[in-house]
Amino acid sequence: MRSARKRGVGIKARPKNESAQPSRSRPSSKLSSLQHSSIPSLHSSNSSDWEARYQAKDMPWEKGAPSPGLVDFLAAHPDLPRGTVCVPGCGTGHDVRAWAGAGFKAFGYDIAPSAIRLARKRTQAAGLAARFDLADFLREAAPVRFDWIFEHTLFCAIQPNERDDYVRAVLRWLKPRGQYLAVNYLIPDKDGPPFGTTRGELWKRFSPHFELVQEWVPRTYPNRKGLELMLWWRRRGKTRNPNAKIRKKSKARIRK
Ligand SMILES: C[S@@+](CC[C@H](N)C(=O)[O-])C[C@H]1O[C@@H](n2cnc3c(N)ncnc32)[C@H](O)[C@@H]1O
Repeated sequence: MRSARKRGVGIKARPKNESAQPSRSRPSSKLSSLQHSSIPSLHSSNSSDWEARYQAKDMPWEKGAPSPGLVDFLAAHPDLPRGTVCVPGCGTGHDVRAWAGAGFKAFGYDIAPSAIRLARKRTQAAGLAARFDLADFLREAAPVRFDWIFEHTLFCAIQPNERDDYVRAVLRWLKPRGQYLAVNYLIPDKDGPPFGTTRGELWKRFSPHFELVQEWVPRTYPNRKGLELMLWWRRRGKTRNPNAKIRKKSKARIRK
């Protein structure tokens, strides 16, 4: 399979025919790009990487519209109770505005201040009510717990070694029995962002904590056709706690 970079998909390179923002600085090589090259940590997502990309208008993920899969999902489910929804890594807020437009109480969070600034400006211009705040979804406590979390190109944007933190964050920010709707990006790339994943990996990570409600291949942007898989999960009543065994063992040791 050709790599995502060659297909011009995703975060690394902007397809030639895409009406994206003008780019003042375009990564010319892997080392000059913002793929964590000049950044101290190679192992965690860094707010300054992302902020620099927004400031340089180097945002190939920015499609100027919400995820088509989300748009279709909301149109197909007009009767869902209108609860709260969190969109982590919301970028400039297209998906948050889609949820808000459908009547949900929508909240967007991003690690890059420029993303939050743009999201607020565009939401106000659109006359919609949604809230945007600066937050590191992986590391911060949830401001409140949400009925829904919507994932779209954050999982593939973080470092693969942060994926355990990502699952823990979803569990921290979501209410018990809350729903996790994800547009997953199934590419093979190991040199991201974007970093690829497989259905198998997603199943392994999420099925211990969630029941699968539905899965399908969504309509998507022209250059991501066939590369996305939507998974709609509902959080289990009782989820396996990865720390439970450790606690039991240490209690047993204390009793001895
Ligand atoms: C590839 S972009 C996708 C943006 C948006 N979801 C979209 O599809 O247009 C990834 C976004 O995640 C944000 N991000 C990266 N790490 C994050 C973290 N730990 N917490 C919150 N946002 C993060 C980046 O600043 C960036 O806006």
